[in-house]
Amino acid sequence: MLKSPFLKKISIASDKVEREVFPFNSMAFLTDDFELTFDQKITFFVGENGSGKSTMLEAIAKLCGFHESGGSLDHKNYDSIDHVDSALAKALQATWLPKVRQGFFFRSESFFNLANYIDTYGDLNRYYGGQEMHKQSHGEAFLSLFSNRLGSPTYLLDEPKAALSPQRQLTFLSLLSEWEKSDNTQLIFATHSPILLAYPNAQIIEFTSEGLRDVEYEETENYKITKTFLNNPQRYLKELMDLEVSK
Ligand SMILES: Nc1ncnc2c1ncn2[C@@H]1O[C@H](COP(=O)(O)OP(=O)(O)OP(=O)(O)O)[C@@H](O)[C@H]1O
Ligand SMILES: [Mg+2]
Repeated sequence: MLKSPFLKKISIASDKVEREVFPFNSMAFLTDDFELTFDQKITFFVGENGSGKSTMLEAIAKLCGFHESGGSLDHKNYDSIDHVDSALAKALQATWLPKVRQGFFFRSESFFNLANYIDTYGDLNRYYGGQEMHKQSHGEAFLSLFSNRLGSPTYLLDEPKAALSPQRQLTFLSLLSEWEKSDNTQLIFATHSPILLAYPNAQIIEFTSEGLRDVEYEETENYKITKTFLNNPQRYLKELMDLEVSK
């Protein structure tokens, strides 16, 4: 029986690279021999703000057949943003086993518009637990979206924790384990959450200015900074305040 991860690898078709165009002109790691291998059912993208996680995720989404504004494969543009053609998506190529034709691309920044779209056109009973998105809180709507779309083969998520309280992030971790057990789901997602990153058996890919690399949970800045901060918030606060004062 076939098991996820279905999307095994992405790489660059060097003849399609437009070097003078974003993101090739600003992300030095996008060399002609760039490739990313997905070896787990769940992959996290981590890295500083602006390190390229959303740019990469959006290009992968486009490569998988999703619209840039997010949603399932049959969702069309609902955010009325004029998305620029992604030069990265045009140059990316995918290795699938097998190619899957179902999934969901979630972007937290367009969740409000997605919720509108689902309330107007979506099959609420079939996919979304029968409750209108806008009659739920941000975090509730988000979790109902994910718990009710369980079993869709490919999920690409950008900042799923944005709406979720720490408690709901724990609930989300248990959803992840249900998905993982199903063998039918591959998730790739960008997050800053030290709670979500703790998920075991996940592949963590860190985006840095030197390039992309696989890291362990404890090596991530998200883990290290949160841990040292929570161990002694006062010390951090004192240092930060002193810095402000000495400017
Ligand atoms: N169309 C564009 N043209 C030029 N620069 C862009 C464009 N889109 C994004 N950028 C820049 O590319 C960089 C990477 O952005 P991206 O949104 O991928 O970062 P990110 O890792 O997702 O950050 P965050 O953690 O804040 O979500 C940023 O510096 C951003 O300003
Ligand atoms: Mg981002």
